[in-house]
Amino acid sequence: MFMKVFITREIAGVAIEYLKKKKYDVSVYSEDKPIPRKELIKNIKDADAVVSLITEKFDRELIDQLKKCKVIANVAVGYDNIDVEYAGKKNIIITNTPDVLTDSTADLAMALTLACARRLGEGEELIRSKKFKGWKPKLLLGVELKNKVFGILGAGRIGTATALRAKAFRTRIVYFSKSKNHEFEKKTEAKRLTLDALLKVSDFVSIHLPLNKGTFHLLNKEKLKLLKKSCIIINTARGEIIDEKELITFLKKNKIFSSGFDVYENEPKINPELLKLKNVVLLPHIGSATEDARNNMAFLAAKNVDAVLSGKKPLTPVKQ
Ligand code: GLV
Repeated sequence: MFMKVFITREIAGVAIEYLKKKKYDVSVYSEDKPIPRKELIKNIKDADAVVSLITEKFDRELIDQLKKCKVIANVAVGYDNIDVEYAGKKNIIITNTPDVLTDSTADLAMALTLACARRLGEGEELIRSKKFKGWKPKLLLGVELKNKVFGILGAGRIGTATALRAKAFRTRIVYFSKSKNHEFEKKTEAKRLTLDALLKVSDFVSIHLPLNKGTFHLLNKEKLKLLKKSCIIINTARGEIIDEKELITFLKKNKIFSSGFDVYENEPKINPELLKLKNVVLLPHIGSATEDARNNMAFLAAKNVDAVLSGKKPLTPVKQ
């Protein structure tokens, strides 16, 4: 009998082929939408491994449905969609896909930074709505990056990669992190600050923290109040790290310059107030959406599954 691997959504073919070659009984939910919970339960009950995506919420109820599962391989670096502690109690290993999406996500953080600084969304809209009447000396004036202070929240892999990019634009890097990161400081010449100090001095704030109990609404009303009026906030991590309603109020009242979103608090629902704002750039959670990253993420998840099912150590387990 072959061991069963259930994949909750069509991922890169290389990963599926790899698992099939390894003689697993592989099944994939093939519709291009998140798998309905009932169907998910039906398929994971007797699975030896599950390859999951961030659209599937593996809470206690769902984890209790797993009767044989040894590993849930999440195709993402974030794993806030899984109750990892509970899974650990049930001896289910959780893996994620770090590293392989670092550059894609940092590229996107920088793209959003530039899009906000240079008001690219508004520029595009002007052309598309046929309202562009020619060059004007004061048309869509934005801000330069050079000599500005670039605040990084979270000095992990993506935070580091983003800081390096921002440094290439000649910004001065400051960062907020639980502990001092010597490697980060060496690479970026960054200075570690408290969160409050960082928010007060930064011209740009880019979020690269995981979502957990400690980071939920980390940027609440009190923290947002510390920002400069000229500040630009970029979020490519998780929407829930910012109190989105409060941020919208700040943007509406022009208490900050603008904000670039790749993630939202109630994804995929978008707060309708956001759509009315000009000083935002809104993307549909595409931080890791490059061919390279998505292929490598899927392949890494498949390798994690194979490692666990063949009695070896997973390549990239998360702390449980
Ligand atoms: C995507 O959001 C990820 O965590 O990889």
